[in-house]
Amino acid sequence: MLRARIAVLVSGGGTNLQALINAEKSGLLRDGEIALVISNVDGAYALERARMAEIETLTLLKKELGGRAAFEARLQEELEAHGIDLIILAGFLSILSADFTAKWPGRIINVHPALIPSFCGKGFYGLKVHEAALAYGVKVTGATVHFVNEIPDGGRIIAQKAVEVQDGDTPEILQKRVMQEAEWVILPQAAQTVSKAIVEGKA
Ligand code: GAR
Repeated sequence: MLRARIAVLVSGGGTNLQALINAEKSGLLRDGEIALVISNVDGAYALERARMAEIETLTLLKKELGGRAAFEARLQEELEAHGIDLIILAGFLSILSADFTAKWPGRIINVHPALIPSFCGKGFYGLKVHEAALAYGVKVTGATVHFVNEIPDGGRIIAQKAVEVQDGDTPEILQKRVMQEAEWVILPQAAQTVSKAIVEGKA
């Protein structure tokens, strides 16, 4: 295999997807190619970013398909049909079942906007994570990239980067700083590391 074929799963604005696209363009992500972007939210701006980069897109809606099992069955079909080697959850705000994650051991990675094991698990996603960090009063937060298994945010950690909380931070301001200083840095790096391992037959 020359390059690992990557599917990026998204639900929202897609700034992490953009960081991956930029990394592929710049050559930082050289052992993987983004072959497909799948959204579980209709009209997510991430889809627009994919189209601008001429990447194939798909929208799969749980409701339309008839629930989680049907959604995951279709997802699996599409991933197989596209010859996907690695799944990257980049702001994908839905939990995948144990049945699904068991089919992709060591082949799904996720970016989480906190330093796991803090502020993670079920119910901790998006802005809620930063609201919780500010409410607790931590002075340092950050981002984590980890493998995905059956435990939400529980898989082996690949990379983490710390970010300072500053006086007067709102959840939105903190979210932006964590993205800029941590997520957009460690997610492309981790994508490259895991893609390389796949290409070399070590994963
Ligand atoms: C990111 O901060 C990502 O870490 C977070 O959602 C945001 C999506 O932004 N993901 C989670 O909270 C997963 N538990 P984006 O669509 O601009 O990449």
